[in-house]
Amino acid sequence: MASFETRRCTSVLGATLTGLPRIDTVDDDTLADIVTAVHEHQVVFIRGQEDLTDPHHLEVMLRLGSPYIHPLARVAGRTEAMVEHIVDDADHPPFQDRWHTDVSWDLTPPTIGSLRPIEMPAHGGDTLWASMYAAYDSLSPRLRDALDGLTAHHDIGSGEAFKTKGGVDVFEMAKALLPDTRHPVVGTHPTTGRRYLAVNKQFTRRIVELEPPESDALLGFLVDHAVQPNHCLRHTWTVGELCLWDERSTQHFATGDHFPARREMARVAVGDPI
Ligand code: SIN
Repeated sequence: MASFETRRCTSVLGATLTGLPRIDTVDDDTLADIVTAVHEHQVVFIRGQEDLTDPHHLEVMLRLGSPYIHPLARVAGRTEAMVEHIVDDADHPPFQDRWHTDVSWDLTPPTIGSLRPIEMPAHGGDTLWASMYAAYDSLSPRLRDALDGLTAHHDIGSGEAFKTKGGVDVFEMAKALLPDTRHPVVGTHPTTGRRYLAVNKQFTRRIVELEPPESDALLGFLVDHAVQPNHCLRHTWTVGELCLWDERSTQHFATGDHFPARREMARVAVGDPI
């Protein structure tokens, strides 16, 4: 039996885990139970993590999977995983306020994401997640059949925010490194075996096997359907929690309503265990 309590956030996705010590101190069996909860609920919020520091955060993520280095960091020469701090303030406006699955334009995107709020504005700065299992399950059987075998092209896009973050040269090098990333429109999760809709508004450009107008129409419908409110959870952050989510079966959207107030998050993502 798991050594923590689980309370679901909605009937579709999300759960709060309570009763755990600082997460880097738990044994492997408990960590395995937490990963099971991530796969079951798609996103979990672990309370009681006030003492977690960046090194603890990184250490525990590297017990969950292999180091994931963002393509922009890869082309800039980074070879080691690190905790990234996303800071929004008056000089750095929020830029994650669009629906996306992290780095879906990479050939091997991350599989588990994590966020730890460091400083939150007095109001706003919530993050939303959408379940791509729910998005797939709520399509009609005929449309689900039609999506079988289709693939989609993903790319980084015009990436104004990425250019500001990494510099124009690094952005162009990352874009050239991954010129034609394709993934199935419907993925099958290797752990749960469940099917999920794998297209997102920010990074999915076209469905390869369709004519451009057909792709525009179908993709336009799918990316909006994916994030309709019935598939979503909205989370208001509390400093002292750690969030883990299944990257494959979700999309997320960080609201930008707190601008110009300061908001700081620590983020680490990992790939499949080696
Ligand atoms: C992200 O989109 O990866 C960041 C989400 C957030 O800051 O809430």
